[in-house]
This record gives sequence, C-alpha cells and structure tokens, in this order.
Amino acid sequence: MPYQITIQPSGHVFFAEADETILQAALREGFPLPYGCRNGACGTCKGKIIQGTVDFGSYNESALSEVEKKAGMALFCRAVPLTDLVIECREIGAIKDIKVKTLPCRIQKLERVAPDVMIISLKLPPNERLQFLAGQYIDILMKNGKRRSFSLANAPHDDELLQLHVRNYRGGTFAEHVFTQMKERDILRFEGPLGTFFLREDSDKPIIFVASGTGFAPVKSILEHVFHVRNSSGNERQMVLYWGNRTKADLYLANLAGNWQQAHDNFTFIPVLSEALPSDNWSGRTGLVHEAVMQDFDDLAGYQIYACGAPGMVEAAHRDFTQLRRLPEEEFFSDAFTVSSGESKS
Ligand code: FES
Repeated sequence: MPYQITIQPSGHVFFAEADETILQAALREGFPLPYGCRNGACGTCKGKIIQGTVDFGSYNESALSEVEKKAGMALFCRAVPLTDLVIECREIGAIKDIKVKTLPCRIQKLERVAPDVMIISLKLPPNERLQFLAGQYIDILMKNGKRRSFSLANAPHDDELLQLHVRNYRGGTFAEHVFTQMKERDILRFEGPLGTFFLREDSDKPIIFVASGTGFAPVKSILEHVFHVRNSSGNERQMVLYWGNRTKADLYLANLAGNWQQAHDNFTFIPVLSEALPSDNWSGRTGLVHEAVMQDFDDLAGYQIYACGAPGMVEAAHRDFTQLRRLPEEEFFSDAFTVSSGESKS
C-alpha cells in the first residue's frame, strides 16, 4: 500500500510505493529534494521526520549521527516509510523541469592530464543533447550493473561534448578500466543529469569554491557557466576558488584557472598544496585547503560556499565554516566524492 508523504513547509504531497526510499518517491513524483551520493554517505539529503516512522536503512555514521537520529533526522536517500509521513526539508525548484535520461555515448577523446587524472570527452548520438545545470553529475552504467558517478566538467552551453575528470585509485574498477583498457570510440551508457550541487543564481552573495582533486570538475562547469552568463548579463558576483591538491603535478588545469583570473576581475584562484615536493619549487599556499579559507576569512556570514571533493575535506569545511566562521547552514552546498555500498562518486 502506498504511503502518503507530506512535505513541510510547502505542504506538497506525494506517495511512496513499497520499499521505495523517500528520495526515490519524491524524485519520481517530480519533487526535487536536495541529494548527492544517494548511498547514505554524504548527508546532503538529511531532513526531519516530523510525523510517522521509517526504516532508516544502511548509511555511514558520519552522514547521520545517533544524536541527529534521536532528534528525528533521517537520510531520505536511505529511509523507507513504514507509515504515512510528514517530513521537513527544502525543495529545489531549479531542477524540476530537467529530464533525467539514459543515453548511449561514445568516447571521443582521452587525455591524461596528471599521473592519475584522465579527462574523458563523451559524444552523444546525433540529435541528442543533455540538458543539465552546471555542477550536476551523471552515472556511468557499468556492464556488471554497478554505477559510477562523475561530475560534468563542461558548462551547459558548451554541450557538444560532455567532459568527465576521472581519478585513478586502487580498487576503482571503472577508473582502472579507464586507465588501462578504455580507448577512443568505445561506447558507454549513462543516466543523468543527477544531483543538486549547482549554482544558486537567485543570490548575489560572494562565492567561495573549495575543491580538492577532481572536485575541480563541477566547479569548472559552474565557473564557465558564470563567465558565459556574465558576458551576456553583466553578472558581477565576487568569486574565489581554493583548489587543494597534494603536489604541483596534481593541479592538472592550473593554467586554465590562472587564465580565468587574468580574464575576469571578479575571480581569484588560490591553489593550495598539502605535500609539495622539493622539485615543485612551490612558493604558494600550503596545508589543507579548507584551512587556507579559515586563515583568509574571519567571518563567512555573508558568503555562499560550494565545496566539492574528498568527504573528509567537505565535512571539515562544513563543520569549521558553520561553527567557527558564522556561515549560515543553508549557504553551504557540497558534493562529496563518496565510496559506499558498491557505488562511488568522483
Ligand atoms: S547521504 Fe543521502 S544523498 Fe548522500
């Protein structure tokens, strides 16, 4: 029997089928709730159960603590209704009209831009285009039934080819395939666009982007989108990008970010290395990337933060910016590259 779910404060109502999570049911019925990993690891989908009971499902404790659970919070990507529910969460209007598609695509280009980073360009079938918001991701559908999530690195207006930044890591089946066997003209299938990590364009607050590793990919998409829109509308939000990597070789598109800084008065690029090599001759910022932001800003009350990359960095940024720098909770947007439950994200 379907359960009725009422969203507060909007009053919107939808129904969940047997064994469907709150998030699956909401998306199926056209109510976009915030989400990222969809596997109980990032915490983006966290909301409150005001009335009714749920099966909380399996999840990482870092995404939902016992204290939060006792206070009525749940991860909507994992929680399955056991009764009718009243829930409290934000809804995201911007993705409501964007259709999620399953499409084939062809590998058009493979570029190894760092020892462990490959940029893949995908070509869609003729007459197909993917509508998406800058910052969203797609799921590559693997032959073994698993999915592998990648942020789109190109801006929506520049959609002839879709660009993914793939980092190689031990045990990453798809990543290893990309680095050892994949070749141009191979065919893949994907589902997308997905996720709610995109620029909130209804704000004029200055923006701080905090990226680690290939967390640069969705930030690139957002920035190229902003620069494009700015050219036509005069948008002048101040923006700064802190990009953290281990060594200089890992800053795989530093020249591009440097060029943006030269071309746009409202944009600053600050690369940060955590393990610079003597041969790097690095005279720039060092340490952890979110700590560089902490050093530069005493007060984040008037800012929006977009953080993307390793879960540890995203968690630390969220904790320190909200607790120690007065960043409003609702102005922190994140996409953590999680690995959990056989699915992973990059
Ligand atoms: S924990 Fe639910 S979307 Fe990440």
